Amino acid sequence: MKTILITGGAGFIGSHVVRRFVKKYPDYKIVNLDNLTYAGNLANLRDIEKEPNYEFVKADITAGELMKALFKKYRFDGVIHLAAESHVDRSISSPMEFIYANIVGTVNLLNAARLIWDDFTGRRFYHISTDEVYGSLGAKGFFYENTAYDPRSPYSASKASSDHLVRAYYHTYGLPTVISNCSNNYGPFQFPEKLIPLAIHNIKHNKLIPVYGKGENIRDWLFVDDHANAIDMIYHDGKIGETYNIGGNNEWKNIDLINLLCQIMNRKLKRSAGTSENLITYVKDRAGHDLRYAIDSGKIQKELGWKPSLQFEEGLEKTVEWYLANEEWMKNVTSGDYQKYYDSQYNKR
Ligand code: NAD
Ligand code: TYD
Repeated sequence: MKTILITGGAGFIGSHVVRRFVKKYPDYKIVNLDNLTYAGNLANLRDIEKEPNYEFVKADITAGELMKALFKKYRFDGVIHLAAESHVDRSISSPMEFIYANIVGTVNLLNAARLIWDDFTGRRFYHISTDEVYGSLGAKGFFYENTAYDPRSPYSASKASSDHLVRAYYHTYGLPTVISNCSNNYGPFQFPEKLIPLAIHNIKHNKLIPVYGKGENIRDWLFVDDHANAIDMIYHDGKIGETYNIGGNNEWKNIDLINLLCQIMNRKLKRSAGTSENLITYVKDRAGHDLRYAIDSGKIQKELGWKPSLQFEEGLEKTVEWYLANEEWMKNVTSGDYQKYYDSQYNKR
């Protein structure tokens, strides 16, 4: 039986990856390592937590010696590393947390793998990253795997730094690494600080929908299961030392996306046309707000046969249905400090 370490498995994307691996690969033992920050939630994994091939370990990747001890204890065959601080706005207000979790945490895992794995044969250290490392595009063009890094927020700079360190460990120590850089994900279990779940939550409760700047920034949206599927393919068949870009080929201006979401919400909540749209409120722009992200995912499509499965309208509708059906989940994650954080964001504007 192979033992795979998945870090950040209690978070949004990580929980989908853990669920997929636990269900699809009964011969793998999946160890989910997460320190359960505000974004980590074991309720995301209720349906699989009792499976015999699943184990949860509460631990912080910034604890280097502990990471080595866990590598010794479990003898991981592979690592899929998702644990990170992930929200750009939080990186602007508290950059140091991103340095510790995203950079120091990644190096601790790289060191544990390098020092505890006595033989690299058949092993794999897979680092999950973001397209934001490439910076900001103008109206035209795409990010390719060989696009020069140009991170512009503390979040993207910390992820870029961790990507560089992963590549350095491949070149310097021969550690068998692979990296993927994905565009914006959406879907069930995403914490309501990110645009789509935040807007769904606010519309449901008749609160304002904050649109940064003029709402003209563009993101390339991908349904989270399509990302989990790409991660599965890259973990098993991606080439060591390589990078793969993953994206939905699905660019939306923020304001157009929000208008579409408002229409879906009006329909689902049986509100008359224009009701949710009335909540749209233009607020002060995010500092250093990247204008446009767009991924060329030709490499993973050609080499591994991956492609996105869902049309955006369909994925968004499924996502809205999930949030409306899981009011209890939303209530739990928005209790505690959530309102305080949310209000403090507003007060800055
Ligand atoms: P998330 O914030 O929902 O989850 C992150 C998880 O990591 C949480 O469960 C949290 O508890 C855990 N974590 C944070 N710091 C930790 C630490 N020090 N030790 C142990 N666990 C820790 O994030 P997400 O959106 O699921 O993103 C997961 C990964 O995918 C990140 O590496 C992110 O950079 C990358 N990514 C995200 C997106 C996106 O659109 N969300 C797109 C591309 C890449
Ligand atoms: P977000 O979901 O935070 O992802 P990222 O910044 O990593 O792309 O934001 C997506 C886009 O939506 C981004 O251009 C910022 C914008 N945005 C708003 O206009 N209002 C909001 O309340 C949030 C959270 C984001």
